Amino acid sequence: MLRDQFGRVHNYLRISLTERCNLRCFYCMPADGIQLSPKENIMRAEEIQILASEFVKLGVNKIRFTGGEPLVRKDFDNIATRLSKLNCEMAITTNGILIDQHIETFKNCGISKINISIDSLKKDKFNSITRRDYFNRVMDNVELLFSQGFNPKLNVVVIKGVNDDELIDFIGLTKEWNTTVQFIEYMPFQGNKWDFSKTVNAEEILRNVSRMFGERNVLKVEDKKNDTSRKYKIKGFSGNFGMISTVSNPFCDSCNRIRLTANGRIKNCLFSGSETDLLTALRNNENVEELIKETVFNKKSQRGGIKNFASEEGRLMSESNRSMILIGG
Ligand code: 5AD
Ligand code: SF4
Repeated sequence: MLRDQFGRVHNYLRISLTERCNLRCFYCMPADGIQLSPKENIMRAEEIQILASEFVKLGVNKIRFTGGEPLVRKDFDNIATRLSKLNCEMAITTNGILIDQHIETFKNCGISKINISIDSLKKDKFNSITRRDYFNRVMDNVELLFSQGFNPKLNVVVIKGVNDDELIDFIGLTKEWNTTVQFIEYMPFQGNKWDFSKTVNAEEILRNVSRMFGERNVLKVEDKKNDTSRKYKIKGFSGNFGMISTVSNPFCDSCNRIRLTANGRIKNCLFSGSETDLLTALRNNENVEELIKETVFNKKSQRGGIKNFASEEGRLMSESNRSMILIGG
């Protein structure tokens, strides 16, 4: 088992398949773009399969594909098929644009846990956040998933003055749709214009929701052990909603996740300052198992060692972290 120095067991691997994306969300990508890794430094399908199986041998039983946008990878179906043989729970986080081309793969490979990033229900705002014009396609694909029997979750990065006026509308979707809307606190990364005053914490959201629906109608939903979101539902609604409060109220104590970047580096935390180059080790025939164990063991207790994002130290540390597009959420 992959245990770290604090006894946390790691059974959940998030694999970024690419650094590229067909959107340009401002909170994820710096305005002047990012420097992509040379193509030969990106993991190939068979390398992903070998590394993933090493993790599975060490106790990983859930794998999520992330990016960039995982579905822009031309060999996505090939990768998913390879990994579906590992007997893991399979999940994906996607912006939804290309989903209609992969429904069969999702079904055949057992990819049932699908999270779709959608930060606004208003076309103009969605397009201005993402700097592209794909709102209708994303909405159509969300509906397609529901009609095909999937229950995707919706990820909303909440940013004050940008989309915090739409939270009630998002919760409104859960009346008919058996989905979870996940409100994610805006987090700081290299070049993403983060500022503590633009974050909206869970208490603020709950206060608004209670005002709107009546306090008695806002019910707590039981959270599972490694859940990152604290969930609630509106009485009588099919779905629920949750808050992922990385900044104001981190859930590091029960963290069970490890990340593998598209260029084959392990990040033992979203905010870790250091990375372990697993891909080069694999290509040099070195012992990757030891590297994985060691990297997990050394994980810091909270948020890569950043105590307070709003402090000068926190600002410098998160500014030197990769952009989110290069990590994969
Ligand atoms: N803060 C919070 N969430 C972010 N994501 C990307 N960048 C940020 C950020 N700065 C989210 C995306 C997606 C997931 C992969 O990570 O919206 O849902
Ligand atoms: Fe692409 Fe997701 Fe980043 Fe938006 S948040 S640019 S959809 S990877």
